[in-house]
Amino acid sequence: MKLGIGNDHSAYGMKLEIKQHLESLGHEVVDHGTHSVERTDYPTWGRLVAEGVASGEVEAGIVICGTGIGISIAANKVRGVRCCVCSEPYSARMAREHNDANVLAFGSRVVGVELAKMIVDEWLAADFLGGRHAERVAMIGAIETDHDR
Ligand code: RB5
Repeated sequence: MKLGIGNDHSAYGMKLEIKQHLESLGHEVVDHGTHSVERTDYPTWGRLVAEGVASGEVEAGIVICGTGIGISIAANKVRGVRCCVCSEPYSARMAREHNDANVLAFGSRVVGVELAKMIVDEWLAADFLGGRHAERVAMIGAIETDHDR
């Protein structure tokens, strides 16, 4: 799978670990940065990853900041992106099965590296269930359309 990844300074080390994990599983990773621990602004990186997903450059994305919150809010501003902050594997699975989340977020100050890998693995292994869930996801898309006027 071709995945985008992005992070702020607080999650630089975590990003490197997750990127290596993904590549060891055979995924292709587009690293949008940031590429150091120098202080930076999470919306920059959430936006880049989300735009990569929305444009089809990558199939899905992973965004990481201190809490996962700010960068997920930024990612969700891009049309068509459904980004979920997950701090454990169950939510990550549900984010795919019920919400068709195309971007996963978590916090480098919230979860450890090994738990983060489990969250990523569960999210990647799950499939969208469609059916009634597709109707609800379509309703989310309608909110975007309605507020675009
Ligand atoms: C940076 O200090 C921190 O605010 C950021 O990583 C993130 O947690 C914001 O939501």
